[in-house]
Amino acid sequence: MFDNNRFSLVFIILIFHHVSAIGRDGLKLIFEDKFNSSSTLNESIWNYNYPWGSTYNHQANMIRRQVIITDLGQVKLTAIPVRTSNITSLDTVDYGIINVDYTSGAIHTNSLTTLKRGLTIVNMRVPSVVSTWPMIMLVPLDETLPTLTMDVFNDRRNIGYTFRYTSQIGSSESVSGTTRSSTDNSLDYHSYAIDWGYDKISFLVDNVLLRSFIKPIEIVQISDMSLVIALGVGGRSQSIPVNSSDYPATLLINSVQMWEPKFDGRFKIINFNSKLLLEVENGFVSDFTRIVQNNDKGTLWQQWDIFYVGYNTYKIVNVNSRKVLDDFDWQTNDGAKIVQYKYEIKDNQIWKIIENEDADNTVTLINVWAQKAASFVGASTQIGSQLVLNEINDGPDQKWTLIRL
Ligand SMILES: *[C@@H]1O[C@H](CO)[C@@H](O)[C@H](O)[C@H]1NC(C)=O
Ligand SMILES: *[C@@H]1O[C@H](CO)[C@@H](O)[C@H](O)[C@H]1NC(C)=O
Ligand SMILES: *[C@@H]1O[C@H](CO)[C@@H](O)[C@H](O)[C@H]1NC(C)=O
Ligand SMILES: *[C@@H]1O[C@H](CO)[C@@H](O)[C@H](O)[C@H]1NC(C)=O
Repeated sequence: MFDNNRFSLVFIILIFHHVSAIGRDGLKLIFEDKFNSSSTLNESIWNYNYPWGSTYNHQANMIRRQVIITDLGQVKLTAIPVRTSNITSLDTVDYGIINVDYTSGAIHTNSLTTLKRGLTIVNMRVPSVVSTWPMIMLVPLDETLPTLTMDVFNDRRNIGYTFRYTSQIGSSESVSGTTRSSTDNSLDYHSYAIDWGYDKISFLVDNVLLRSFIKPIEIVQISDMSLVIALGVGGRSQSIPVNSSDYPATLLINSVQMWEPKFDGRFKIINFNSKLLLEVENGFVSDFTRIVQNNDKGTLWQQWDIFYVGYNTYKIVNVNSRKVLDDFDWQTNDGAKIVQYKYEIKDNQIWKIIENEDADNTVTLINVWAQKAASFVGASTQIGSQLVLNEINDGPDQKWTLIRL
């Protein structure tokens, strides 16, 4: 006899278990298209189909005619049960040999509109037809790895997310997951977003985090990524047979945004109150060395490399020691001391950098773990005072000027 339990599919589903939004403070909008300034796509930004051609892991051949802009300013991709290609079948890695008997549309940003790291957001409404496979992908312009993907599949409640990369032995490997949303995603527009920095990749829907992956070694493979938005047929929506009477089906894209990190680079960090520079005391390279303020001596231990970790946060690395600003012993009290420590991608080593609204061109540095601001005890202006954390109060000793080197 068949043992049903033994053969049943185990489908691991992650409910929205994190409820933290991603801020935009540390990010700069570098590209936005709301698709309402003209009746055609701006061809200095967008191309049709996939960067590598007209087919991918599913049943539709992509053609330009299936992409139009509506009067309301949305890009409309329409899938129809018509063959428009002499490509009759495809041998796919994921689904074996499949027929190519549908036609649909895809668009992608060209080589002038790519992202190295940061946040990409696509606001769109997926079709209700359960055999369609709407997706957004960030890809290199050739059909190679790495890729970052979000898709909606099967009943309209499955949201998938995948980071695919090349393993150390040269094969394709991935980390991925599926979230089950509480509502049918075809009922409304939603924002599907992918963010990555030097350490972390995050996938979000409507600004709510679905999942982050820490992948600092693999992320190095990501360089200029082009955005693809496609309406596939079949593909990952495999469990439901594709029935031509359900078609045409349409995906509506409202807007696209790309945000880049504001602060990646090498800086001097100057306290607005004392006018002194942040340094590693005496240029020591050992863990636990105090971080203090001093006059500008032009030394490397007064210079800092700021890297976008991901999720609107940064790490702050001393140029001389290569160690990071670290909230010593994970303390959360006022006066908690900041030292340098080997980077381990821990929250007490990760910072939000928030621009102050005053016209003084300063930022506040907030430790992600303690949620307190980098400052000095008693707003000290003395040389040698140690950097500490204090309750955020907008005091001048909590303001910093970043001088890009
Ligand atoms: C453009 O589209 C956005 C959202 O799609 C909408 O909020 C805005 O009013 C539109 N603007 C014009 C001029 O149609
Ligand atoms: C198309 O995009 C380019 C590049 O962003 C921009 O300079 C140009 O103004 C856009 N054209 C139209 C018609 O919006
Ligand atoms: C398919 O059509 C294209 C363009 O019409 C043509 O270049 C190609 O040779 C055809 N391929 C086959 C296998 O017939
Ligand atoms: C396709 O859908 C139509 C209308 O819902 C239905 O009558 C038909 O039986 C379906 N065909 C298959 C093969 O499921």
